[in-house]
Amino acid sequence: MSVEFKPEVVAFCCRHCAYAAADLAGGGRQAYPSAIKIVELPCTGRMDVVNVLHAFESGADGVLVAGCLSGKCHYIKGNLYARQRVNYLKALLDEIGLESERLRMVNISAAMGIRFAELANEHVECVRKLGPNPLRSAAKQGVAA
Ligand code: FES
Repeated sequence: MSVEFKPEVVAFCCRHCAYAAADLAGGGRQAYPSAIKIVELPCTGRMDVVNVLHAFESGADGVLVAGCLSGKCHYIKGNLYARQRVNYLKALLDEIGLESERLRMVNISAAMGIRFAELANEHVECVRKLGPNPLRSAAKQGVAA
């Protein structure tokens, strides 16, 4: 008997846009997977490379970084710095044999609740196709990978 794989995805969301969009999605009963665990940030510019690596090391199957639309970051360039870090991390993930598709950055506004739900569903589906994070079993057993 096979058990259906249910991915766990950590979403680092800027409070000014993506977090508000997720709230709007929830309030509007737009379904997005419960597998999405939202971490609220003041800006995606506060997301550090270590935060994402720690999420994967702790067993997350995927990570979504969601920031303000281009040119709309409340801290001017926070989402641009986040994009640079995500690009760096994607290259790093490929290098260590963890598919870079597990990490995605999106830009949305606070009014895009429906779009947030769509993007969350898309990313969870993408991660589901990739399968479990190979570091997950080691993380659950408390073994350093
Ligand atoms: Fe939203 Fe910077 S304030 S990404």
